[in-house]
Amino acid sequence: MKNIAVLMGDGVSQEILTCAIKVLDKISKVYNITFNYDYVSIGGRAYDEFGVPLPEKTIEACLKSDAVLLGAVGDWRYDALAPELRPEKALLGIRKKLNLFANLRPVKVFDELLFSSPLKSEIAKNTDIMIVRELTGDVYFGEPRGIITKKTLDNRNIKVGFNNMIYDEDEIRRIAHVAFKSAQKRNKRVCCVDKANVLDVSRLFREITSEVSKEYNDVELSYMYVDNAAMQLIQNPNQFDVILTGNIFGDILSDEASTICGSLGMLPSASLSDGNTPYMYEPIHGSAPDLAGRNIVNPIATILSVAMMLDYSFDNALASDCIYHAVRDVLKEGYRTKDIMEKDSTLCTTYEITDLITEKIK
Ligand code: IPM
Ligand code: MG
Repeated sequence: MKNIAVLMGDGVSQEILTCAIKVLDKISKVYNITFNYDYVSIGGRAYDEFGVPLPEKTIEACLKSDAVLLGAVGDWRYDALAPELRPEKALLGIRKKLNLFANLRPVKVFDELLFSSPLKSEIAKNTDIMIVRELTGDVYFGEPRGIITKKTLDNRNIKVGFNNMIYDEDEIRRIAHVAFKSAQKRNKRVCCVDKANVLDVSRLFREITSEVSKEYNDVELSYMYVDNAAMQLIQNPNQFDVILTGNIFGDILSDEASTICGSLGMLPSASLSDGNTPYMYEPIHGSAPDLAGRNIVNPIATILSVAMMLDYSFDNALASDCIYHAVRDVLKEGYRTKDIMEKDSTLCTTYEITDLITEKIK
């Protein structure tokens, strides 16, 4: 039996999680694995219920689970709240609590969706990148941080906002190992993306990555500045295998890369720890409150996230591939949600496309 903590968040969270669980229930029957779901809240939903975005109960449910499945958090209804009470704080909090330092964001384009990509098909075709984003450091967590008031030379009080972009060598080393190990199972190339022409923290990132690379003679290491990488990603995405990068650059580049696949609604992610705490799985897209409850969003990112769960947490590559193939087959047959709709395809609701995918699992 596998215990899954299901973190219900905001916006479309409930719909996409329901879909992913339908898929898991089918996997349970076909592959004879029992899943036990522990539903808890996070983000704005938790704030409404308990007055805090990340209640103790939620943390406990995660810690005692075998894997965590998260929808998405955030809603402009909470924009006026103090920073510690905002839904996003809960997401950062749970990543930190579970020590989920390695965020894997695979960017793999389905041939069937080349039409939806804003890139020319011949450029987007065959894109298959693994973004390895560090997830518990960088400006996201760096201290000192804050907004203070300071006096100017001409005696005015002005506000100053600051965050510290900071990495120590241990943090860099452990994420670099994840990237090299991932490359060993793929096309054996790591591109370290940073801003080493300007930032000291990036220079250290390079130095340590280069040191770690010596343990992986079969993997080729290259470096690229992040501004160039943003351009290269859409000019020639096929040049990349594994992209190793810090938290903020990875956040930005992964949204950019997702569009190559036709929609932000297609990209799953896995967040891994050192193995002493459960891993967490979530779509890379946000909570899209404006689309919530309308049965129109694309559940595939979350469905592929549970495929990653089967692979990384439950060591069941067979069941994981089965989901991936089910998704591909449904797309091949021309079924589409609104975000990836094209001429002559069949428009499906969130639940309809989920049922089609579920039927393919057998
Ligand atoms: C992501 C999101 C989060 C992040 C936000 C919601 C805090 O954009 O998972 O990419 O910045 O990490
Ligand atoms: Mg993001």
